Amino acid sequence: MCGIVGYVGEKKASPILINGLQKLEYRGYDSAGIATIENGKLSIVKNKGRVSNLNSMPETEKSMGTVGIAHTRWATHGIPSKENSHPHYDNSNTFAVVHNGIIENYNEIREFLKSKGYVFYSQTDTETIPNLIHYYYTLDNDNDSEEKFLKAVNSATKDFIGSYAIEVISYLFPDITIVARKDSPLVIGSGINENYIASDIPAILGYTNKFYLLDNNEYAIISKDTINFYDISLNNIKKEIEIIDWDSTAADKNGFDTYMLKEINEQPTAIRETIYSRIPMKNNKFEKCNFQDLGFTKEYLSKISSIYIIACGTAMHAGLCAKTMIEKLCRIPVTVDIASEFRYRDPIISEKTLCIFVSQSGETADTIAALKLAKSHKATTLAITNVIGSSVTREADYSIYTHAGPEIAVASTKAYTSQVALLACTAIYFAEILETSDTNTLDTLKNDLLHLSEKIEEILSRSNEIKEFADKVYEQTDMFFIGRGSDYNVALEGSLKLKEISYIHSEAYAAGELKHGPIALIEDGITVIGILTDKDLAPKTVSNIQEVITRGANTLIVTNQELSTDNYDSVIKIPDTNSLISPILSVVPLQLLSYYISMNKNLDVDKPRNLAKSVTVE
Ligand code: F6R
Repeated sequence: MCGIVGYVGEKKASPILINGLQKLEYRGYDSAGIATIENGKLSIVKNKGRVSNLNSMPETEKSMGTVGIAHTRWATHGIPSKENSHPHYDNSNTFAVVHNGIIENYNEIREFLKSKGYVFYSQTDTETIPNLIHYYYTLDNDNDSEEKFLKAVNSATKDFIGSYAIEVISYLFPDITIVARKDSPLVIGSGINENYIASDIPAILGYTNKFYLLDNNEYAIISKDTINFYDISLNNIKKEIEIIDWDSTAADKNGFDTYMLKEINEQPTAIRETIYSRIPMKNNKFEKCNFQDLGFTKEYLSKISSIYIIACGTAMHAGLCAKTMIEKLCRIPVTVDIASEFRYRDPIISEKTLCIFVSQSGETADTIAALKLAKSHKATTLAITNVIGSSVTREADYSIYTHAGPEIAVASTKAYTSQVALLACTAIYFAEILETSDTNTLDTLKNDLLHLSEKIEEILSRSNEIKEFADKVYEQTDMFFIGRGSDYNVALEGSLKLKEISYIHSEAYAAGELKHGPIALIEDGITVIGILTDKDLAPKTVSNIQEVITRGANTLIVTNQELSTDNYDSVIKIPDTNSLISPILSVVPLQLLSYYISMNKNLDVDKPRNLAKSVTVE
């Protein structure tokens, strides 16, 4: 997905811009470019392909400008090509723009501008932006001024339908950049005699930890020592600086070969950081879960007749785990919905519905649209995200955070386990308010939650066992994941991970469903991965696994039960825990399995084909 970086300061901008873009490479992209102001002119260097290509281009070497904008593009309108790469100029080469998001009415704007004599050289929606800015700028008879520049950007953005985060520079104003956003993230990093801009915090975290988070329909004029903010009517507004306490090395690989392996290994810390403050203790006794940031009352929660959990992909799988927890502990019916389905199917929601939106990035377009829909039906909305200030948190009535740190690998790992852990605390919190579960049950679950990190460490210390199995099966073309209850939820996530990073076709089934059709696919040598962590359901799943063994399947069992190991090709024993939260443990061997298979196949684990980290378009 597209990424934005910007710099205004005293240093040569291009290395800072390229470094920032490299930090955003994980988002997935097909072309990259930078624009700087050189001796009173705009200079643009861009091309299809990797960011590192920019480094070796002669224009980059010559560039001395101290103000610049940069972009990595992930094609939405027009093929990946030099012409379609950002930055884009207007026809007179006065304004250069980088843009994340989609201008939905770009065709109308293009036709309008063509009727005024403008010519278009790319197939992008973005090229309309600098030209429309130029149109408004030249329409205004006032003398050149920053105010006039801002007014032109404001007028142009008001014409756009869609989403945008934009940075604009002009040779007329060599010391500033103007930025604006709507439904696409943009942050401004504050430094001394220099300021930075980025679509994502990790891009510039190496330079500053002080950030302004631009909200929808806000603008800023940024020079090396000033940042002035404006609302849509161009009134001056004040914004608070936020200190982001992510360690900049947290966004690097930290000695691991890949981000994904690093992030799998960070899960014990991510969970600790996410839940420890939620589970307070006094004199060795548990107190009620700490959710002062929500402050729900019994009166309010008693009125909630149903809960929706809405998310996409892995985050949706975390939602499935939460359904089991909330229904069991709180006795409130929960529906888990895929955001892209929810938003278009006229869901039954009212002020008596609580809608929980789970999103690592907080920027997923479908999830944000579903959130807006829920709000329009007067439902209470609660966002669970990993990114402070992300779009979902700006829309939702309430927000709570996982503290997993930046997740760079496209395939989500630590965000998932942190989400499940935080959702478990949330379910306990609701049950405590509603008094729907006894204290003993909840205290035991809290205790289990607090021991998860050390149990994950134990699983990680035996990664080799999973690698051995991966070495045996990595050339297969189809695999099946089966389980019941919470184990079925994990089967879905395990199967998704395998598809994403190893490109092996896989299916997840509720183990009891096999005989209703899919068992027809089981034949000699096919791999079936069984997850068995719920002691009440384990005997049933064991029978289902026996059915596939009889038909020749090669089996890997992930379990905390005592099973006779002779029956299975491999058994990965994991520590015991409450079955409601066992997905947090049982998913780890499945993450590692996909990881090792992908590595064996020499694939790009961190940046799998066709996928982007943050899906900010529909
Ligand atoms: C899979 C994965 C995706 C995301 C999904 C939602 O590994 O990462 O399925 O979970 O695109 O993204 P967020 O959580 O950012 O809304």
